Amino acid sequence: MIDRKELARRRKRLMDMMGDDSVAIIPTAPVRIRNRDVEFPFRPESDFFYLTGFPEPEAVAVLIPGRPQGEYLLFCRERDPKLERWDGARAGLEGACSVYGADDAFPIGDMNDIIAGLLENKERLYYNIGNDTAFDQRISGWVNAVRDRVRSGVHAPDEIISPNHFLHEMRLYKSRNEIKIMKKAARISAGAHKRAMQVCRPGMMEYQLEAELNYEFMAQGARFPAYPAIVGGGRNACILHYTENSDVLSDGDLLLIDAGAEYDSYASDISRTFPVNGKFSKAQRAVYEIVLEAQLAAIETIRPGTHWNEPHEAAIRVITKGLVDLGILKGSVKQLVSDSAYSPYYMHRTGHWLGMDVHDVGDYKIEGEWRTLEPGMIMTVEPGLYLSAETRGLARKWWNIGIRIEDDVLVTRNGYEVLSKDAPKSIDAIEELMAKQLAA
Ligand code: GLY
Ligand code: MN
Ligand code: MN
Repeated sequence: MIDRKELARRRKRLMDMMGDDSVAIIPTAPVRIRNRDVEFPFRPESDFFYLTGFPEPEAVAVLIPGRPQGEYLLFCRERDPKLERWDGARAGLEGACSVYGADDAFPIGDMNDIIAGLLENKERLYYNIGNDTAFDQRISGWVNAVRDRVRSGVHAPDEIISPNHFLHEMRLYKSRNEIKIMKKAARISAGAHKRAMQVCRPGMMEYQLEAELNYEFMAQGARFPAYPAIVGGGRNACILHYTENSDVLSDGDLLLIDAGAEYDSYASDISRTFPVNGKFSKAQRAVYEIVLEAQLAAIETIRPGTHWNEPHEAAIRVITKGLVDLGILKGSVKQLVSDSAYSPYYMHRTGHWLGMDVHDVGDYKIEGEWRTLEPGMIMTVEPGLYLSAETRGLARKWWNIGIRIEDDVLVTRNGYEVLSKDAPKSIDAIEELMAKQLAA
């Protein structure tokens, strides 16, 4: 858990960057309806949760640097014993202060009466427009309410600025506590991948392996997956975001699993690919070795000072050379790389930032240049090859081999640490583990 002191430090840092004469309004996520009166499980919005640790829906944080009566206000639901009997406990206004460290708390229903007053005579409003149209409209209503009062001498904020730049730079650099949590998320997920390898056998349904993954996440203390698992056998492994997970797993096919647990609101994101029957065929082995070599080469580039695109460039070189060796591409590797000839077989990038969001926040370029890696950043490294039967001119022996190998990597002072290293990825290690079958 991120403790109250760290949450307070985050708010202080953001407020230092915002400067005086400013206000930030940061709402949590809306509750989303699955159908009729059934809701999706609530997940707080990550920026909001990063600053507050407040887990309930219907909450808005307001930060006002330098305000003598208190800089951190929280609008939230009031206690209501009758509703709490049905829907669960609430912190209420008092808990917002005593448990979550707000300087003052107000009922969420009173926002309209209070917020406009807080905007008076401020120069800048930090608010992220475009996430929630209904809330955007309320923001303009409050700003206009202040503008309506100019003749009485009050001044409305002239600038409405997204807080994303400040906040997302902060979120990009993980603290010691965050790293500890993310290691745990990755460890739990690696265990789930191992379990899936050991339970898998021909004839099972893809979703039955999803059940094993989710079981292991929860059994190890991770309440939710960080994203819906991709469990794709055979041709489904060539569909990048396949989540139906509803086909039968066939003897002789490869299976691609992309699944990660969320632990304490931090994501892990791991992909492994293995044969449904536990033994790689010759063709599967040849393609797998290329993806693995590309992934290891990409990881090897990671250290402070490397620029963001270097792992991708390393992966592309190995993949292109591999496709030439297999006879799938013809020509000089250098020319083929510069022509992006690999793109019918490898069509995504080699990684992304990882944190509270699986595709985490943080800029990849600064002033037009790829950013350099620094200690504390966490990223995925996930090259793949997708040899779909639909790819024009592809020899039949390669059809339906879809492979991605994805790890979570921390940039350290001297290089890198692979957080997801417990999930086996060499052919020998996978075959050896799969030989020790577990009953489903
Ligand atoms: N699981 C989504 C991704 O690998 O980017
Ligand atoms: Mn993934
Ligand atoms: Mn990923």
